[in-house]
Amino acid sequence: MATKSKKAAKVEIENNEDPKEEAPVLMPPEEDAPEPLIEDLPGVGPATAEKLREAGFDELLALAVMSPGDLADQAELGEAVATKIISGAKKMANIGGFVSGEALLERRREVLKLSSKVESIDDLLGGGFETQALVEVYGAFGSGKTQIGHQLAVNCTLPMEEGGFDGDVFYIDTEDTFRPERISQMARGHGLDPEQVLSRIHVARAYNSAHQMLLVDEIKRMSKGLNVKMIIVDSLTSHFRAEFIGRGMLANRQQKLNRHLKDLKQLADVNNALVLVTNQVHSKPDAMWGDPTKPIGGHVLAHASTFRLYLRKAKGGRRIARLVDSPNLPDGECVYQVTQEGLRD
Ligand SMILES: Nc1ncnc2c1ncn2[C@@H]1O[C@H](COP(=O)(O)OP(=O)(O)OP(=O)(O)O)[C@@H](O)[C@H]1O
Ligand SMILES: [Mg+2]
Repeated sequence: MATKSKKAAKVEIENNEDPKEEAPVLMPPEEDAPEPLIEDLPGVGPATAEKLREAGFDELLALAVMSPGDLADQAELGEAVATKIISGAKKMANIGGFVSGEALLERRREVLKLSSKVESIDDLLGGGFETQALVEVYGAFGSGKTQIGHQLAVNCTLPMEEGGFDGDVFYIDTEDTFRPERISQMARGHGLDPEQVLSRIHVARAYNSAHQMLLVDEIKRMSKGLNVKMIIVDSLTSHFRAEFIGRGMLANRQQKLNRHLKDLKQLADVNNALVLVTNQVHSKPDAMWGDPTKPIGGHVLAHASTFRLYLRKAKGGRRIARLVDSPNLPDGECVYQVTQEGLRD
């Protein structure tokens, strides 16, 4: 038992070294033992495992929190089997531990905020776009999602004292809408050298959802020696939406999207970086009040995003950004505009 504190002390000494001296190395958090698979559950053979996966259950924790009736329904199993699976999952799942509020506060202190250089947007976000967070920007065609991605990519390269992260950006482009020319315009808008800014933005075109997910692993590999401070996925959902069509594919799509979001969130945590994803809306004709548009991606994305920004076009070329569902900030709106030089108040 006492050996544990020794290990902790050693880690602390290592952490005291000047972090600036060393190039950041991206490593996934250490895991003591491999997480058990759903096949390891009593009574789960390959056929049942497949049913569970098809219904979107690929982790023990997801099963442990289900009720037998719901699981039986969703995975098309008998209720007795479902009950057995759930009780097995409760015993074997890694439920996760409690951490002191103090330790969490310490981690929160490392959070940095990237300025949009638009006062109204920064105010709405309590100072800027936070690291260790996943920010979802959603809105209709032409609402300005890609413009925000480009602008924040440029701002990320700004020095810290100017509200930037002096960092490198990875940009996963799924719709072929990344434009270096636009980056150059925005860089000039901040008095930066376009070539230098472009050299710090690493872009990959994702050809389908599987490729998009693989590119996250590629970021882990490529990030050695770089100061990765921002990852952009524009658009997060377009491939998933195009490839997984119909009700029957929904569970599968949500499961993949969930995996992808977890990988992205891990990059944000490990690098103390910001992840920005864009998302489209679909119209919800049964909505009787309010805005009849909803972001796609369902609950999986709603839960994964730390901040959600809803963009709309307003009169006179102005844009409205609405903050939805923030963990620590009031919902609200701000107005800004998109100009040749970039986003402005
Ligand atoms: N150089 C520029 N100067 C001024 N405004 C621009 C410039 N480039 C783009 N815009 C504005 O940005 C809009 C396009 O926004 P953007 O591409 O970010 O939309 P989006 O939300 O990503 O749409 P989609 O869903 O199609 O990807 C244009 O309609 C135009 O109003
Ligand atoms: Mg776009």
